Amino acid sequence: MKSRILSPSLLSADFSNLAEALKLCEEKKSGAVHIDVMDGHFVPQITYGQPVIKSVRKLTSLPFDVHLMVERPEEMVDTFAQAGADWITFHQEATVHIDRLISHIHSLGKKAGISIVPSTPVSAIKEILPEVDLVLVMTVNPGFGGQKLIPYCVEKIAELDLIRKEKNYNYLISVDGGINNETLPSVLEAGVDVVVSGSAFFNGSFNWEA
Ligand code: DX5
Ligand code: ZN
Repeated sequence: MKSRILSPSLLSADFSNLAEALKLCEEKKSGAVHIDVMDGHFVPQITYGQPVIKSVRKLTSLPFDVHLMVERPEEMVDTFAQAGADWITFHQEATVHIDRLISHIHSLGKKAGISIVPSTPVSAIKEILPEVDLVLVMTVNPGFGGQKLIPYCVEKIAELDLIRKEKNYNYLISVDGGINNETLPSVLEAGVDVVVSGSAFFNGSFNWEA
């Protein structure tokens, strides 16, 4: 059976006790830790940045799956790489020179991911699919935890899985937003590899068996 990776989103953790949150990630068989970076422009809120990531980096050896919800991500990837990010995912909607930025992330020795918001079709990233290590399909409008999954976004996971098989591409498909025990089966069925869960994971209701 294909192995799937759980990547809990720290956005729903208690920020006053990130050490405890990371311990929980390890105990619950996570394969990575999802870190949502928000700049107050691409999305309304501001979360945490490089100094916080650097500080918690020493608490776990799990890969840091950094999701940049920021404008002009090209100005920040070097410092996120230095802070300890392992996978660096930025938004198709946030910058123009995507091909160049993917190459640059690779030159830093990191995995490069591209993310699309619900209204962006898979066709918008078609050209760079052979270059990326990860495609993060947002199944809610980015910016907040605890929202409901938007069903039409799941079709994009299936589409990406089909393209990957047809073209022999190697990217992982990740899903982010509204994943809980009810919605998990549909995204697994669609072909997802990396499952991000924030509120359901940290409220203790999420059953991860994959
Ligand atoms: C939303 C973030 C998500 C968020 C998911 O903009 O990118 O990673 O934490 O939270 P849930 O699982 O609660 O939808
Ligand atoms: Zn995220």
